[in-house]
Amino acid sequence: MAVSFVLNGKPVSVKSPRDRMLVWVLRDELGLTGTKVGCEAGLCGACTVLVDGEAVPSCSTRLGDVAGKAVLTIEGLAKDGRLDPVQQAFQEHHAFQCGYCTSGMILTAWAFLKKKPKATRAEIVAAMEGNLCRCGAHVRILDAVEAAGQASGGAR
Ligand code: FES
Repeated sequence: MAVSFVLNGKPVSVKSPRDRMLVWVLRDELGLTGTKVGCEAGLCGACTVLVDGEAVPSCSTRLGDVAGKAVLTIEGLAKDGRLDPVQQAFQEHHAFQCGYCTSGMILTAWAFLKKKPKATRAEIVAAMEGNLCRCGAHVRILDAVEAAGQASGGAR
């Protein structure tokens, strides 16, 4: 039986086993390869997507878990051809190197800043600690998240 959910604002219906991990459904069945696969164990954050606004590892989330819910991937963040302010801040602060972790970083930051736009640096560090970057861009990533929060003025 098909599993229906809202993906990046549009209803979708996927005929796939309910226990298939969401990351593979997104990448292989829906062609959204912006979501990356790292550890496949819920430990690196590369595969992060938002489910009903909460950042979750899609490598550890079953398709059946998102039935009837709203899933947002990196492909759904820009609006009308304009980058989201968090994406913009990552670009301005050169907050990536190879870029493999970037989608997950941005979506984790987006969900966090929505709840706490005026977070302190320490709070941002704590919020982002589940997302790993092997290139060593962490300081620039934190700078970008901080800037995005400040730029929002608490309005996000
Ligand atoms: Fe999902 Fe690492 S690939 S957390």
